[in-house]
Amino acid sequence: MLSKEMTAALNKQLNTELYSAHLYLSMSSYASSIGLKGAANWFMIQYQEEMVHFMKFYTYINSQGEHVALGPLDAPPNEFPSLLEMFEETLKHEMFITRCINELTERAVKEKDHATQIFLQWFITEQVEEEENDREIIGKLKLIGDNGYGILMIDNELGARVFTPPAAAAA
Ligand SMILES: [Fe+2]
Ligand SMILES: [Fe+2]
Repeated sequence: MLSKEMTAALNKQLNTELYSAHLYLSMSSYASSIGLKGAANWFMIQYQEEMVHFMKFYTYINSQGEHVALGPLDAPPNEFPSLLEMFEETLKHEMFITRCINELTERAVKEKDHATQIFLQWFITEQVEEEENDREIIGKLKLIGDNGYGILMIDNELGARVFTPPAAAAA
């Protein structure tokens, strides 16, 4: 059973996850357009992950006998100054998502909603991983600066990322 307030808060997060998906889809297309096919792959996988996050909220809300409320979404930016700034924007966005998940968890604790607390645990772990990945990539990009060869090396590395389907995902 979900409270009215919790249902609304979960729905808000569901819509935010969908916005995240659009943001990374936009980054994927932009990276591809400037010849960074590896980065395009990385952001396309990030898009797929966000759709998994979105579906987790969708399934949870329905499993509690409620229904989703899809709202209007802001348009994501569709041009980005550099690969470094794309990843800085990604980290900034994921830190915002971490704060959202923390606030949801605090609400669940306050309402003594144990089921939602357990549901959110997966996301708490996931956010640590998201931020860690972004920081690692930002660190490398800062190290190479605008060295073209370095950018190509990193692009190759980003191209090696593979999507792990949700059932097989550890966290
Ligand atoms: Fe997410
Ligand atoms: Fe992830």
